[in-house]
Amino acid sequence: MNPLPLQFIGLTMPKVLVSDPIDQVGLDILSQVAQVDVKTGLPAEELVKIIPEYDALMIRSGTRVTKEIIEAGTHLKIIGRAGVGVDNVDVPAATRQGIVVVNSPQGNTIAAAEHAIAMMLALSRHIPEANVSVKNGQWNRKQFIGVEVYKKTLGIVGLGKIGSHVAAAAKAMGMKLLAYDPFISQDRAEQLGCRLVDLDLLIRESDYISLHMPKTEETYHLINAEALAQMKPTARIINCARGGIVDEVALAEALKSDQIAGAAVDVYENEPLEENSPLRELGQKVILTPHLGASTEEAQVNVAIDVAEQIRDVLLGLPARSA
Ligand code: NAD
Ligand code: MLT
Repeated sequence: MNPLPLQFIGLTMPKVLVSDPIDQVGLDILSQVAQVDVKTGLPAEELVKIIPEYDALMIRSGTRVTKEIIEAGTHLKIIGRAGVGVDNVDVPAATRQGIVVVNSPQGNTIAAAEHAIAMMLALSRHIPEANVSVKNGQWNRKQFIGVEVYKKTLGIVGLGKIGSHVAAAAKAMGMKLLAYDPFISQDRAEQLGCRLVDLDLLIRESDYISLHMPKTEETYHLINAEALAQMKPTARIINCARGGIVDEVALAEALKSDQIAGAAVDVYENEPLEENSPLRELGQKVILTPHLGASTEEAQVNVAIDVAEQIRDVLLGLPARSA
């Protein structure tokens, strides 16, 4: 039996602040038990000012929930991240304050994996530039000769939920698969059709490298100048995981000096990407998207429901599933 919404048992409605765009379906779930205020794009100082009014905060990747915001959130019980990565939340600070942090570990898996595959193919066939060129009235077929992914080696770094789906799709396209993941067994990798290898070998032997691990102290700038120098000059790298895993300055240098052939990037160390980022100046060797990995209608409905239900339950006094 569903617990009674609080307004029916004579208590004040709790308040939820939604500070990034969230699908309406999630807002509807929260509205059953709480007053829901949607205020997106707030500067950090404004968030610090208003957060004391709220019992719950729901975000995507746009809001950085710092220690200052958490400490000001004296009534906060829960922070819900409508997505996978909670690296934009100071989780230790929240834990110290008894605030539970929840996420949606699976709601956008397919969306993110499909984005990585789309980036790999778009990069290989120069689709973004060819599209712009035809729309500008040109018919330049020679400039856009691409490469096939069939029989090429894809190195997957991070063979979790998204990495596994990328492996299945790439296998179906006839690619050979290498994987590096320190927490995955040889058996699991083999089940997914991947040869589990060390990172150096993966970097040296791959024609494509796709990153699918979290951003942690260990993975910060894991792909740096030294790693890029070991890649084949014909290799291409795809980052749909997290900004900061790749050193962007080193990546731009490696592309400029033809050390590697291309890069497709969805996530950046600072978002939005700085106007003067060297990545913006590299023509058709680089494809940039504005953190779109999870931006499908389906994924946004999935993550909104997943996280809104967890917030609702905590506001009703039920146990949470923490991130
Ligand atoms: P997951 O937890 O299922 O998988 C991550 C994998 O990375 C795990 O298997 C883990 O063992 C592995 N890993 C951890 N440390 C590693 C290291 N040092 N080297 C190699 N592998 C390591 O997570 P997921 O749902 O597959 O998400 C993967 C990444 O994609 C996360 O960073 C997540 O935030 C990001 N993501 C981005 C978007 C987007 O919009 N671009 C959308 C969803 C997820
Ligand atoms: C995630 O970690 O789930 C992604 O960053 C998706 C997002 O919220 O854009």
